[in-house]
Amino acid sequence: MGPPGAGKGTQAKRLEERYGIVQISTGDMLRAEVKAGSAIGREAKAVMEAGKLVSDDILVRMLSARIARPDAAKGFILDGFPRTVPQAEALDRMLAEKNMALDAVVELKVDDAALVARISGRYTCAKCGAGYHDSFQKPKVAGVCDKCGGTEFTRRADDNATTVASRLESYHRQTAPLLPYYAAQGRLKTVDGMAAIDDVTRTLTGVLDALTQ
Ligand code: AP5
Ligand code: MG
Repeated sequence: MGPPGAGKGTQAKRLEERYGIVQISTGDMLRAEVKAGSAIGREAKAVMEAGKLVSDDILVRMLSARIARPDAAKGFILDGFPRTVPQAEALDRMLAEKNMALDAVVELKVDDAALVARISGRYTCAKCGAGYHDSFQKPKVAGVCDKCGGTEFTRRADDNATTVASRLESYHRQTAPLLPYYAAQGRLKTVDGMAAIDDVTRTLTGVLDALTQ
């Protein structure tokens, strides 16, 4: 968990490689629906561009179908879900039905002031989705993706100053109340997301390794 630009996607991708379990990003899933022009995508597009949250009903159905897929059977990293108390309650129910439970809920704690700089410099490889930043995470060879050699990159439609302000407001109003919810369950781990990307990964994997030993 963490506000827009906290590093959820950046770190989740690294955890995916390290632990061999899939990243499930509801933001990525919704962007794929928008791109495909599906019924969900048509409903989600305007909401996402306004920086608001898409309805719990859509998200819970989408997530439930996603975690039923075979690649999620041995576990998964949720990125961007849950984002409201009803989503968290639905997740608890879905996991209980599968005899699963969350091992940890990680909060990436970042100052609001740092987020706009992170988001305005972000871009991703159009072919494989690897994430980059104009200043903080450049590809080794300019204009060429480190992971797949792709040379086309995209920027997100919601990565503009007005939408970011609204996404941040949604986070503080609707998502941050989940922190005490998970703290009460004893699952909340807070990691300093202001450190450099590699340092955040080191702290995060230290926390997670300690849980699995
Ligand atoms: P989503 O795609 O989840 O967007 P978000 O929460 O706004 O978060 P971001 O993806 O912008 O940030 P991130 O934390 O992943 O940061 P990143 O690692 O890329 O959701 C988009 C929209 O979909 C929502 O607004 C909503 O409308 C809808 N939605 C999604 N899920 C929903 C749900 N459950 N319910 C309802 N609606 C939902 O990093 C950002 C940049 O910073 C990168 O360029 C990176 O290179 C750089 N960076 C990362 N870490 C560091 C660091 N430590 N130091 C310096 N730079 C860094
Ligand atoms: Mg993300």
